[in-house]
Amino acid sequence: PTIYGITPTYARLAQKADLTRLSQTLMLVKNFHWIVIEDAENKTPLVANLLRDSGLKYTHLNIKTEKEKAKKAMASGVEQRNKALEWLRGHLRGLSEEERIGVVYFMDDDNTYALKVFEEMRKINKVGVWPVGIVGGMMVEMPIITNGKVSGFNALWKPFRPFPIDMAGFAVAANLFLEHPEAKFSRKVQSGFQESVILNYFVKKEDLEPLADNCTKVYVWHTRTQKPSISKAGKAMTYNHIEV
Ligand code: UGA
Ligand code: MN
Repeated sequence: PTIYGITPTYARLAQKADLTRLSQTLMLVKNFHWIVIEDAENKTPLVANLLRDSGLKYTHLNIKTEKEKAKKAMASGVEQRNKALEWLRGHLRGLSEEERIGVVYFMDDDNTYALKVFEEMRKINKVGVWPVGIVGGMMVEMPIITNGKVSGFNALWKPFRPFPIDMAGFAVAANLFLEHPEAKFSRKVQSGFQESVILNYFVKKEDLEPLADNCTKVYVWHTRTQKPSISKAGKAMTYNHIEV
């Protein structure tokens, strides 16, 4: 199966560093198609060049989060992921049934991904799940497995979420997005509920497929890049001929 990685991204000081690290992980993944959606009015040369130079198979999209919505402390990446899903549906419809076999993974641009997580998700029939490191105030947030099935979750942060797992903790068979053309993310939910919104279209807890050795291994970490602070003097010493 082809893995479609969907990554929203936005301009900030560490963007190029984060995207460099992520793209260089992805260079090691076979059969991977990266869908990168800039949260911007226009596509930027920074992202366009990085994608071109990566040698990866990719699709470059952009859609700006509406200001009014953005000012609230609310979920990021919603419009971007929906735009990617729209593109993906069109793409999949143009493929033969065999070519269409794929898996969709929603990837933040600052997480840390072990190559094994990609091997795991190729086993997915509908929706696969696995532990995520350093998230929700825990060393590891994960599904609890009883007799090979997901019986609950160990989450401490908003444990009342229908699916209390992070975006990095699951992937979905691509054909489910064709079977459920209405499936998309929503802004009308509180933070932490994006994952539940999308998963609710496809599965019940009992249908989740535990991967990563029955959810005993951590192959992805919800790392977050610290916002750098550049001093005034440092800013003044920005050189026109140096690409940062
Ligand atoms: C957590 C989850 O892991 C995300 O999947 C979820 O989108 C996010 O919370 C949320 O609900 O806001 P977190 O580390 O807090 O992740 O969020 P970011 O990594 O800052 O953002 C998630 C993705 O959206 C990133 O790929 C980021 O580049 C992108 N983003 C962020 C934008 O496209 N626009 C923004 O204004 C901010
Ligand atoms: Mn993040």
